[in-house]
Amino acid sequence: MEIDKKLAELPLTKSNPKTLESLFGKSTIEPMWVADMEFEIAKPIQEALKKRITNSGFGYEYKPESFFASQKNWYLKHYGIELNKNHIIFSPSITTTISILIENFTSKGDGVIIQPPVFMEFREVIRNTKRSVIKNPLKLVGKQYQINIQDLEEKAIVDNNKVLIICNPHNPVGRVWTKEELKQIVTICKENNIILISDEIHKDIILFDNQFTSALQFVNDYEKIVVCTSEAKTFNLCGIADAMAIISNDEIRNSISSTFKKYNLGRTNALTRVALESAYNQGYPWLLDVISTIEKNSKSIECELENSKIVLIKPEGTYQVWLDFRKVYSDTKEMFVHLTENTGIGLNAGHWFGREGALFMRMNIATTNEKVIDAIKRIKKAVPTK
Ligand SMILES: Cc1ncc(COP(=O)(O)O)c(C=O)c1O
Repeated sequence: MEIDKKLAELPLTKSNPKTLESLFGKSTIEPMWVADMEFEIAKPIQEALKKRITNSGFGYEYKPESFFASQKNWYLKHYGIELNKNHIIFSPSITTTISILIENFTSKGDGVIIQPPVFMEFREVIRNTKRSVIKNPLKLVGKQYQINIQDLEEKAIVDNNKVLIICNPHNPVGRVWTKEELKQIVTICKENNIILISDEIHKDIILFDNQFTSALQFVNDYEKIVVCTSEAKTFNLCGIADAMAIISNDEIRNSISSTFKKYNLGRTNALTRVALESAYNQGYPWLLDVISTIEKNSKSIECELENSKIVLIKPEGTYQVWLDFRKVYSDTKEMFVHLTENTGIGLNAGHWFGREGALFMRMNIATTNEKVIDAIKRIKKAVPTK
């Protein structure tokens, strides 16, 4: 797959000189941090958008039956899940939904459990809503992250802890939670009346022989499950995609839905609608191509790091790799500055995902194989040898 050079000319946050300057101290760094892809978007999406742009105007729109049909097919075909249209609500973003859910179902000071190292916005949303961040850190067993079930039980039993947010596949460590692991989580939530939010934004990027299980598969056992997802990551549409929540519990869904109404957050964007519908209907071959490029990139890194002190935590899903530098550095800040200066590459520092990520780095590999190999070689060369 060819990287589209035109992307670099777009005003992307990823390569915004001001953002790079403030994060990395340099405006010209090679950005391999934020989770945007560098692939040209799928041709059917391009065609559909072009057609829509030249087609009459942009009046108010609704999502037609054809949209829901395409979405329903996607879930059925790829996950064996029969979506109930009445359970879906749309919002501008996943974090909007999470934030509203927290406000509507917890009180100031209540605890929301997260599993760091994890997508940093979870922590921000909890803090911004004046709730307490309760950590159930993942544990690294060998080269695989696992859920600390005993610790989760201890956190879940506390009366004030009302919500658990999981990330599946997990950003940044790349785990795809197994059915058995999810079952344990759901059981704990059910026993303690905890609302489970499962952020499944990365669900379509499943690598190698791993199998994705949606938390939706457990709603018959426990209704207080909210699945937040979007196709923004899957089809590289972060600049236009919206998000959806799938909620079978009437009370939770109605409550979130009425807040959306109150703030008029439910408007249908014509381009989003068109892009998503064509992605669901015709985007799969493109996605398969992307997944095989990501797998190739991950294997190349594994190969390059074979006898290195930098350890790859092999991703099961997502297009990020999580690199362990604990054998090379002992100070997080020093590591970040040293690597940035000596590689010229901008990676996400692990501690941005919580202090549990200290001395790790996240690298975005949704780009060409040549670029990934060049980057990992530069990183290998830059690290101190002793
Ligand atoms: C796990 C996870 N959830 C949510 C988002 C962002 O979603 P949104 O922009 O819809 O809030 C990201 C973006 O990187 C993510 O990694």
